[in-house]
Amino acid sequence: MIRSLSFTLNGKAASVKTDDGRMLLWVLRHDLGLTGAKYGCGEGHCGACTVLLDGAPVRACSVPVKDAAGKKIVTIEGLETRAGLHPVQDAFLRHHAFQCGYCTSGMILASAALLEKTPHPSKAEIKEHLEGHLCRCGAHPRILEAVADAAAGKGKGGVK
Ligand code: FES
Ligand code: FES
Repeated sequence: MIRSLSFTLNGKAASVKTDDGRMLLWVLRHDLGLTGAKYGCGEGHCGACTVLLDGAPVRACSVPVKDAAGKKIVTIEGLETRAGLHPVQDAFLRHHAFQCGYCTSGMILASAALLEKTPHPSKAEIKEHLEGHLCRCGAHPRILEAVADAAAGKGKGGVK
């Protein structure tokens, strides 16, 4: 059904008029011009499309936009604040935790959500949390190191 839907997007009010059954990923990328969330598998299996919905990581390729109505959406474009990069972003840079970057926004947002909920996770918890995120470039070991570093409060910002 075509209707107007409103939500908070990266801290600002936003609305779209669209088929409410369309997947959130297409609305973000095509209607709102936010291309940080990537299209990988399109079936909820790779994590490339991850965004935060009310603070929880979701796979935007598998979430109808109507389910985001009235909620807070954060994409990679909105993770940095006036204070600077999020500690996970900073750690990814320091550890060169990417190659092509296709998985990166999903990895960072999922990790930021983990640290919000569990500020000092164990290495096993980090690994388990990112289990469903695929990196075709083999950067996974550096990604895990980066998240552990951010959790340890090393680098810029530290975890609040
Ligand atoms: S594109 Fe959404 S999980 Fe792969
Ligand atoms: S850096 Fe290329 S898919 Fe992860």
